[in-house]
This record gives sequence, C-alpha cells and structure tokens, in this order.
Amino acid sequence: MSKVAIRVEHLTFAWPGRPPVLKECSFSIPTGELWMLLGPNGSGKSTLLQLLSGALTYPKPLSGHLEINGRLGYVFQNPDHQLFMPTVGADVAFGLGAEPLTLVEIRQRVETALGQVGLSHMIRRPIHGLSGGQKQRVAVAGALARRAQVLLLDEPTALLDPDSQADLVQCIRQLVDQEGITALWVTHRLAELEWADGAIFLSEGQVRQQGSAQMVRQQIGQLFGA
Ligand SMILES: Nc1ncnc2c1ncn2[C@@H]1O[C@H](COP(=O)(O)OP(=O)(O)OP(=O)(O)O)[C@@H](O)[C@H]1O
Ligand SMILES: [Mg+2]
Repeated sequence: MSKVAIRVEHLTFAWPGRPPVLKECSFSIPTGELWMLLGPNGSGKSTLLQLLSGALTYPKPLSGHLEINGRLGYVFQNPDHQLFMPTVGADVAFGLGAEPLTLVEIRQRVETALGQVGLSHMIRRPIHGLSGGQKQRVAVAGALARRAQVLLLDEPTALLDPDSQADLVQCIRQLVDQEGITALWVTHRLAELEWADGAIFLSEGQVRQQGSAQMVRQQIGQLFGA
C-alpha cells in the first residue's frame, strides 16, 4: 500500500460566529500523486488548504484530524502576492535565508529547483518581465528549493492564459512523476482533471465525491451537465 501524504479525517471547521464551512470532511491523498480539489465558490476549498498549510491556527477546527507527511510548499492564485525579489534567482533563494547553508549550497539549490521547473535559463531575469505562468513556476521553484515534498496550490492557473495554464499543470505533473512530489491543486477548470490522478469534489462544506480523476469528472459532468 502506498504511503499517504495528506490525510483529513472528520474535519469540521467554522469561522467565528458562522455555521460550519467544512463538515465532517474525510479524504486521503497518496504520496507521489496529483489530486485536484473542486467545488463551487464558497464551498470551503481555500479554507481547507489554509488549514492544511498550518497558516490558519485560529480558529481551530471544531473536530477532526489533519496530517501532512512531508515538507509543505504553498502556491497562491496570484504570483505577485508571493514573489518579492527583483530577479528569478534571488526570489528562489529568498526562502532559504533561514537555513544554515553556504552560498555554494544556496546556488546549487536554486539552480536545481529552476531546472526542475524548466527555467534554468532565466536565473538572472527580472521578475517583472515574466509571464504569469513563468512567475508561477518561479513560485514552485521557491518551494522546491526549500525541499517541499507536498505542494498545495490554490487556483494557480486562475489568472493565466490557456497556454500558460497547460504549461503549469504539465510542469506539476512532471514534478509528481519525476520527483515524487505530492500535489493538491484547487481548480474550477474541469479540463485540468485530465492531468490528475485523483479528485475531490466539495459542496457546501462536504466531500461529495472523491476517487479517480476520471470518475469524479464523469460524476460532476452528470450533476451539472458539464
Ligand atoms: N477569513 C475569513 N473569515 C470569515 N469567513 C471566511 C474567511 N475566509 C473565508 N470565509 C468564508 O468561508 C466560506 C468558504 O470560503 P472559501 O474561501 O474557503 O471558499 P472557496 O471554496 O475557496 O471559494 P472560491 O471558489 O470562491 O475561492 C465562505 O462563506 C467565506 O465567506
Ligand atoms: Mg478559494
């Protein structure tokens, strides 16, 4: 049996003064797979990702269990909220400041991570000149340089044109296949399920469907005629 990278059991969560936004959610994602999380606006997808990331420490879940096996990386919808340094290389190196690394080791980590997302040739480029899809890949490289093994991506293609969308999902697919990364990817685009191993469909805070991407895609199609 393959190891589980993300496990959520009977998770119930409410924002203060509001009814529960996540209700008894349970699912698990095997290590080394790409899963997509879908659901209508307000169904609790971003809340779930924030809880998994550990960034949301208050309020605490009302009940349930969350488990991540591996170092986490997070990719936001808007890369401009995540990239801070003037050049690609400096940005990927930025997150390494807290680690006791030599300059040579930092350089190696940055070069390896940029190679893994296909941007080795852009190490000296100014961030502001990159396309949206390239910026997202720099954000992914930043996570890889910090040795992230589990990536949480909250609608990473929402602001991208169709070519860049396809590039990014293929880039993540490759990282999953070649580096053993696990990824949980929030999307509104059913077409992206083509690249996924599995999928979870959330509605009104509850997990309505989970399983192979193909099965979930068919079931969503039947529900919404999509
Ligand atoms: N910081 C917050 N404080 C209070 N309520 C919040 C907060 N963040 C989200 N909510 C509420 O929680 C519910 C779920 O929001 P969430 O952002 O998780 O949904 P989502 O599925 O990611 O939606 P979308 O597809 O629009 O991104 C919504 O009713 C939202 O208003
Ligand atoms: Mg959201």
